[in-house]
Parts: sequence; C-alpha cells; structure tokens
Amino acid sequence: MTSSLTLEEVQRTAESVSSLQWPGGPSSIGKPLPFRVRVVRTNEQLEKAISLRAEAYGRHVPELATVLDKPEEIDRSDKAIIFLAESKEDGSPVGTLRMQTNLHGPLSLEQSVVLPQRFQNRPLAGVTRLAVKEGRAGKQVKLVLFKTLFRYCFATQIEWIIIGARPPLDSEYRKIGFEDVFDDQRLVPFVTAEHIPHRVLAFDVLGAERKWFATNHRLYKFMAYDYHPDIEVFASISGMWSRPRRMRRSDSELSVPANLGIPLV
Ligand SMILES: CC(C)(COP(=O)(O)OP(=O)(O)OC[C@H]1O[C@@H](n2cnc3c(N)ncnc32)[C@H](O)[C@@H]1OP(=O)(O)O)[C@@H](O)C(=O)NCCC(=O)NCCS
Repeated sequence: MTSSLTLEEVQRTAESVSSLQWPGGPSSIGKPLPFRVRVVRTNEQLEKAISLRAEAYGRHVPELATVLDKPEEIDRSDKAIIFLAESKEDGSPVGTLRMQTNLHGPLSLEQSVVLPQRFQNRPLAGVTRLAVKEGRAGKQVKLVLFKTLFRYCFATQIEWIIIGARPPLDSEYRKIGFEDVFDDQRLVPFVTAEHIPHRVLAFDVLGAERKWFATNHRLYKFMAYDYHPDIEVFASISGMWSRPRRMRRSDSELSVPANLGIPLV
C-alpha cells in the first residue's frame, strides 16, 4: 500500500482545506480551518505537542517514541519555536512542528551534517519533530503547518528551510518544492533521530513564490493567495496593543518573560 500523494491529490487536499467550514460560522475574510495554528507559549500547549509527537512517531518510528514522549531541552530554549495546531472542536492537538534558526548558533541537524558552502553564513531554519494526526485530516494539517512555516520564515528573513527526511517521506517534501542539498542524494544518519539515515533537503524561501508562479504549481493559490485567519502565529503583534489599555494585564502579570528571546508572536 502506498499513501504518497500525487500532485493532483496535493491540490485536492489544499482545496479541501480551503473550503472547510467550522461550527462558529464563516469568517468575513479568508478561509476558515477546523483548527488553529499558534506558537507554543505555555506548558499546556507544550504537553499537547509532546503527546502528539509521541503518538505520531509511535506509529512510524517506534524507536523514537520513547525519546519524544517528554520535552527535549531545546523545546524550552530560546533557540526553537514550536507550532501547534489545535482542533477548534475540542482543543486536541492535530499537528505540530519545531523550527530552529541558526541566528544564534548552529542548527541541531548540523551535529550530523556539514552543509555545503552556499548555506554557510546564510539565515537558515531547521525543522524537526513534524507530527500530525493520522489520516486525511493529518494531511490537511501538514499542508497548513507548512504554509505557516513558509510565511513565518519569509517574514523573519530566513533564506532556506533545511530538513532531514526519511525515505519515503522525502518525495512528499519534493512535491512542495524542497530540493536535495547534496547532488548524490546521500543518506545521513541523524544524531538527533537515533542515527536513522535521512536525506537532507532545502527549501528556497524567497524564491518559492516565484517558482510556484512560474511553474503554475498547484499549491500556488493556497500558499500565496488564500488567506487563512486561523494561522495565528503573528496574532499578538496587533492583538496585544489593539485592546484598550485598561483591559490589558500589567507587565508583572504576563506569564511570558519580557526577555523571552524569541519574536513575541
Ligand atoms: C510525516 C507525517 C507528518 C506525514 O503525514 P501524512 O502526509 O499524513 O502521511 P502518512 O502518515 O500517510 O505517511 C506517508 C507514508 O510515509 C510513511 N511514513 C510516515 N512517517 C514515516 C517515517 N518517519 N519513516 C518512514 N516512513 C514513514 C507512512 O507509513 C506512509 O507510507 P505508506 O504510503 O506505505 O502507507 C506523518 O506520517 C507523521 O506524523 N509521522 C510521524 C512523525 C514523522 O515521521 N515525522 C517526520 C520525520 S521526517
């Protein structure tokens, strides 16, 4: 059995995500989703992300499930950001991924691989711990998480997204625009994934829109034109200050330290 998606299926998935409705009624602008994507900022959210990681990796990579059923050091550090998609219906976690930039130190995956010259001294994001709910819903969440990642990286001036993908998953990433970092497509054992061999892939953040447009890529409308209000990773930038001052909590009551060290989103 194979569940690799054809390009047509990827497009259909994107379209079904675009047309999904949720119980609260339609938004005035944009395409509502049955889940919200946010940056993890509380222990409760982190626990949800961890439980989903353990469940998803348990399905596919049981040797990693026991490592991933608890937070890793980097999860709580200022080097990483975790995106979490939560069901609007019951708040349960339906997708997550972790991204780390190299702006303040090497990526975790650089413990396993020396990246070629073209990536040296360039702003990079490494992505790990992608996990989604099983089945069709999970595929929809995966696409939305990728859009979130792409838009976040674009906004924060990241040039390349780098991932390690275990075959056969590498072909899924190629369909959305990732390319091999190494021409010989070598498999690299990842220290951070129990030395399981991974293919190293890169995504050109700045060039993506241009390439999707030039190739009439089936995801172009979804990635570039559809507005998804439930991708809320920048929500607090306006939300915090648009509330009347008297309704804001004082700084001392904020649960997030002012020197968090990551963009306050
Ligand atoms: C990776 C993931 C997000 C893809 O979700 P999806 O698009 O819904 O795809 P599926 O879960 O149906 O997986 C697609 C195929 O890849 C396989 N696969 C999934 N994760 C795999 C893994 N880590 N290693 C090897 N094969 C894997 C599936 O068994 C399936 O194979 P099949 O076509 O023979 O049935 C999801 O499988 C997941 O959460 N996996 C667990 C965590 C993980 O592996 N993360 C990525 C590491 S690179």
